[in-house]
Amino acid sequence: MTEPHNGRTTKDGIRVHERGDFAGMHAAGKLAATILDEIAEHIFVGQTTGEIDRLIEERVEAAGAKSATIGYKGYKHASCISVNHVVCHGIPGDKKLKDGDILNIDVTVIVDGWFGDTSRMYVAGKLPRKAERLINVTHDALMLGIEAVKPGNTFGDIGHAIQTFVEGHRMSVVTDFCGHGLGRVFHAPPNVLHYGRAGTGPVLEAGMFFTIEPMVNLGRAETKTLADDWTAVTRDKSLSAQFEHSIGVTEDGCEIFTLSPAGKFHPTYG
Ligand code: MF3
Ligand code: CO
Ligand code: CO
Repeated sequence: MTEPHNGRTTKDGIRVHERGDFAGMHAAGKLAATILDEIAEHIFVGQTTGEIDRLIEERVEAAGAKSATIGYKGYKHASCISVNHVVCHGIPGDKKLKDGDILNIDVTVIVDGWFGDTSRMYVAGKLPRKAERLINVTHDALMLGIEAVKPGNTFGDIGHAIQTFVEGHRMSVVTDFCGHGLGRVFHAPPNVLHYGRAGTGPVLEAGMFFTIEPMVNLGRAETKTLADDWTAVTRDKSLSAQFEHSIGVTEDGCEIFTLSPAGKFHPTYG
């Protein structure tokens, strides 16, 4: 059987890409990250999530790229925008942002067939203290998960690093959603769990591409999906945050495909 390129697939169904494939992922990741950089100035009190999404779609088109989410399982938008107690998959709409609202914006683009998937947190108006703590812990949890990525470690090591850190801050890791392999496809094996035991799960190999995208709740971990079949919210209505990077495993660690060119990944850094 011929493959589109000469990588291979592990017994767990995880694609191992070639060194030459990193360039395509960097291009896709950079576009997604640049769009999230550019959208920052459009987040303010009174702005609608629908307008933010429109600006994102405009930028995807202007770059000659494609949105991975428009048409995905019937989803109609270029982003997911998840405000306050919305955990993920919030649908952009007419609702206006209020002072102190925190929101995750998640964008996935396709550039030359490669997928770039990233999300980060924003705030409208003044960031409330409790929300800032949640955002800091969620951001740092993602970065600790990324630090666990190197050949020989396992996917369980990533989840373990995230879970122990989050729970050490008396917050909850969402277990109903996970990260995923990606590359020339949007969602591929494995499920990248944001919790788990060290040393368990598939072993990481150079050339694996996947996302890490922990969702963290101030209250309990449980979520429910609303009648629109997309919007996932915390059952206890507590605040939720998420950060997502797309990464590729290298010989000695990993490369982050979705680094912010403007250094604006964390909302209080700029
Ligand atoms: N970007 C999301 C992820 O991180 C998936 C969104 S699918 C959509 O996997 F259809 F809801 F947009
Ligand atoms: Co993702
Ligand atoms: Co995403």
